Amino acid sequence: MSDLSAFIRGLPKAELHLHIEGSLEPELMFELARRNRIALPFGSVEEVRAAYAFSNLQDFLDIYYQGARVLLTEEDFRDLALAYFRRVAADGCRHVELFFDPQTHTDRGVPFAVVADGLLAGMAQAERDLGITSKLILCYLRHLPEEAAFETLRQAEPYLDRIAGVGLDSSEVGHPPSKFARVFQASRERGLKLVAHAGEEGPPQYVWEALDLLHVDRIDHGNRSLEDPRLVERLVREGMTLTVCPLSNLKLCVVDDLAAHPLKRMLALGLHATINSDDPAYFGGYLGENWLQAAGAVGLTRDELVTLARNSFTGAFLEPDEKQRHLAALDAYVAQA
Ligand code: ADE
Ligand code: ZN
Repeated sequence: MSDLSAFIRGLPKAELHLHIEGSLEPELMFELARRNRIALPFGSVEEVRAAYAFSNLQDFLDIYYQGARVLLTEEDFRDLALAYFRRVAADGCRHVELFFDPQTHTDRGVPFAVVADGLLAGMAQAERDLGITSKLILCYLRHLPEEAAFETLRQAEPYLDRIAGVGLDSSEVGHPPSKFARVFQASRERGLKLVAHAGEEGPPQYVWEALDLLHVDRIDHGNRSLEDPRLVERLVREGMTLTVCPLSNLKLCVVDDLAAHPLKRMLALGLHATINSDDPAYFGGYLGENWLQAAGAVGLTRDELVTLARNSFTGAFLEPDEKQRHLAALDAYVAQA
């Protein structure tokens, strides 16, 4: 391992863009299918992996929603979360803000409580056993009507003290943030933090809408913001965190080549970019791999790497004293590395 790789692995960092259903590895998919007596349209783990060739977001989503069908019980959701935390423990990951898609499960008859209790159990165990803290972000599926998102918010009511925020994911183009302005307002009135996928495949206009109509605290992806200099200026001025996902962008053809990824340019413009994995089981790498491959492909300097780690804590939904503790640990690491 090169010096820079070792430095990256050890760098204290947070993950702010991780769909827990996107951490379902084919091996666990088969195990859960067997446990729950669910037929899979694949004969082997190799066949599943071979199907992971996507030309756009929708290609991926079709197979991702298929995979999630094996998740039925509280134990399944706990095992899924724990498997993810065990992977990132070796990546210097100290804190995770994880997305879940309740509608993917409730629409199959799995109660909201089964999903939430299972994930919360896995998160509690990860904190006890691995020292990784985490928060839950409930995502509304944007290809469904806003009324369905309201119903999900109603189901979440008993859990709102354990849910940090809400997000917006799934098929972006044709489903602008404006479609969800009312349910985001209702979520904000309940004290929830707000994030939204915007500018992954959708135009800069969707990023403007996420800011002006949804009043988000972070933008997930945000790549296409770079097409609009006024938008860049606004994001920089507001210190808006962008949760960027390099390997996802490569696998979903948002960029043609990792060397052409805009991460370094984003930092040069003063944008508060972070590095994240999105759906690591589908995109060929967890948090550490995203850092290593992005750093190698675009040539990130040691200072840029430290800025990215710093951004991951300042952009997190942690209390100021918790952020300070993480930033102090980061400074201490950099001073001795
Ligand atoms: N759901 C899971 N991953 C996603 C992504 N990258 N974009 C939109 N929705 C998603
Ligand atoms: Zn995502």
